[in-house]
Amino acid sequence: MGKVIGVISGKGGVGKTTTSVNIGATLSHNFKKNVVVVDTNVSSSNLSLHVGAHFHPLTINDALKGDVNIEETIVNHPSGLKVVPASLSVDDLFVNSDNLPEIVNDLKKEHDIVILDTAPSMGPETLNALKVCDAAIVVTTPHLPSVTDALKTIKLSEKMNVPILGVVLNMFRKNAPLTKADVEYMTNHKVIGIIEHDVNVDTSVMKKVPMVHFKPNAKASHGFKGIAASMIGVEYKPEKKWFDKIINWFIEE
Ligand SMILES: Nc1ncnc2c1ncn2[C@@H]1O[C@H](COP(=O)(O)OP(=O)(O)OP(=O)(O)O)[C@@H](O)[C@H]1O
Ligand SMILES: [Mg+2]
Repeated sequence: MGKVIGVISGKGGVGKTTTSVNIGATLSHNFKKNVVVVDTNVSSSNLSLHVGAHFHPLTINDALKGDVNIEETIVNHPSGLKVVPASLSVDDLFVNSDNLPEIVNDLKKEHDIVILDTAPSMGPETLNALKVCDAAIVVTTPHLPSVTDALKTIKLSEKMNVPILGVVLNMFRKNAPLTKADVEYMTNHKVIGIIEHDVNVDTSVMKKVPMVHFKPNAKASHGFKGIAASMIGVEYKPEKKWFDKIINWFIEE
C-alpha cells in the first residue's frame, strides 16, 4: 500500500501543478519509485498541459462518473512519469468529486506514491482530496496573500488529521517581500525547499517536459529534487548524470 501526498496551497497560481509534476518526475526517474500524479483540480485542470497528456481520451472525470476504471486513465510521459489527467472540457466543469477518495485508494494499492495536484481554494475538490491524503505539502510564494491562504489550508488539513510535511517556497527571488524565516514563522512549519523564480519553468511547460528533465542543473530543478528526496527521507546530492543529459536531449527533440 502506497502513500498519498496532497500538494495544496489555498491561493491559485502559486505552483502546485509545477511542484506535483517535478517531485513526481524526480521520485519516478531519480529514486525509481512507482509514482502517479493525479489531477484532482477537476474544475480548472491543467496538469495535462504540463506533460502533454491533454489529448488522452480518458480522464479522472470519467472515473469519477464511474464510467471507467481509474487505471485506464493513466498516461505515460516519455520520461517515465505516470499521470492521471482531468478533462479540459467545459462540459465536465461540474463533475461531482465525492468518489475521489475511493478511486485514489485504488491507485494507492498499485503505486508507491500517489501525488494529488489539488485545486486552489478550499472547495469540495480540495476537501475530497484531503480526505484521502496521508500527508500534504504546502506551496506558497513569498507574498503575504499567498502565505495567508497557505496558513488557512494548513489549519484545514490539520483539522482533517492530515499532517503537513513542510512548505515549498516557490518563485523565490532576491529581495522577495517575505524571507524563508518569515514564512516559517507565519506558517509554523519548516520550509523544505526554496524554488527560485526561473523563466525556464514556463518554457518547460510549453515543451511538456518537467523542469527537472528540461534543465536538470538549474537551481529550481535542484530545489525540486531536494524536496522529493526529503519526502522519502534520503539526502539529495546534486550531480550531473549522463542519463539526465540523454533524457533531456531525447525529450527536447
Ligand atoms: N519557480 C517558478 N518560476 C517561474 N515560473 C513558475 C515557477 N513555478 C511555477 N511557475 C509558473 O507559474 C504558473 C502557475 O504555476 P502552476 O500552474 O503550477 O500553479 P498552480 O498553483 O497549480 O495554479 P492553479 O491554482 O491555477 O492550479 C505557470 O505558468 C508556471 O509555469
Ligand atoms: Mg494547478
